[in-house]
Amino acid sequence: MEVRVLIEEIEKLKKEKNAVILAHNYQIPEIQDVADYVGDSLALSRKAAETKADTIVFCGVHFMAESAKILSPNKKVLLPVLDAGCPMADMIDAEQLKVFKKEYQDVAVVCYVNSSAEVKAESDICVTSSNAVKIVRSLESERILFIPDQNLGNYISKMVPEKEIISWEGFCITHHRVRHNEIDMVRKHRGDTKILVHPECNPAVVEKADFVGSTSQIIDYVRESQDKKFIIGTEMGILHSLRKENPDKKFHLLSPSLVCYNMKKTSLEDVYKVLKDEKNEINVERAVIDKAYKSLEKMLKLS
Ligand code: 13P
Ligand code: SF4
Repeated sequence: MEVRVLIEEIEKLKKEKNAVILAHNYQIPEIQDVADYVGDSLALSRKAAETKADTIVFCGVHFMAESAKILSPNKKVLLPVLDAGCPMADMIDAEQLKVFKKEYQDVAVVCYVNSSAEVKAESDICVTSSNAVKIVRSLESERILFIPDQNLGNYISKMVPEKEIISWEGFCITHHRVRHNEIDMVRKHRGDTKILVHPECNPAVVEKADFVGSTSQIIDYVRESQDKKFIIGTEMGILHSLRKENPDKKFHLLSPSLVCYNMKKTSLEDVYKVLKDEKNEINVERAVIDKAYKSLEKMLKLS
């Protein structure tokens, strides 16, 4: 089907079915353009919790659609491509977390939203990259078990030195492979152009960056800055929003490795098909929803 026709069909089906399309900042440009909301994990969780739509089409990866289901259990949540997953979220399961918890006493289990529903259910509170520092700082507990991202854990530990952060050794396969000497090279060629990175990058990269934040925080930083050029250290999908919103500014990707192939699995055709056939529904066991909801709800209240 021609792109124009596909978009018309998607719009028609959306109205007919009272559906909303949520898309993450890393999705391909065509999907970002057809979506009702584009944002980071926190903004999309909020939208999923508030929406009046009957159906949520989640253009992102599996854990994001699952979070939408946990926050809106009575809605139909559809993931256009079922095997669009997040390898980091798969680096810990609920059984491993139970064993990890047994090793430590008097700790709060803080879980990055990039995790399964079962892992969220075993945690005290969830965080996203945009609220992690604020939430960890506000917790009473002085010892934190942070799962599953060691890099975000490391960043929190630097920002909240008064707490002991014990991290699981998971990582994002996309951000973790950016090397700190790529920053050195970019600095050599591009002088004082600001380098903005995601906290999923490894500590040596985060250390050398000018700004560290979630995808939406990077977008906000650029919007408010007077600078005209930026180096972007997160997944390349974000360049679409940045360029659309700031036609007078120039963006360069910090590293060619910043492509998350799971975020790139979803096409416009998949969005059309999932709306038409309503297959690929995300379901989570009621008992898991009840427990995971508490972790997500606490996060939304504190952020
Ligand atoms: P954000 O919450 O910053 O959008 O990040 C989600 C993610 O998966 C980053 O790799
Ligand atoms: Fe997961 Fe990394 Fe892809 Fe984000 S960029 S969805 S953390 S693999």
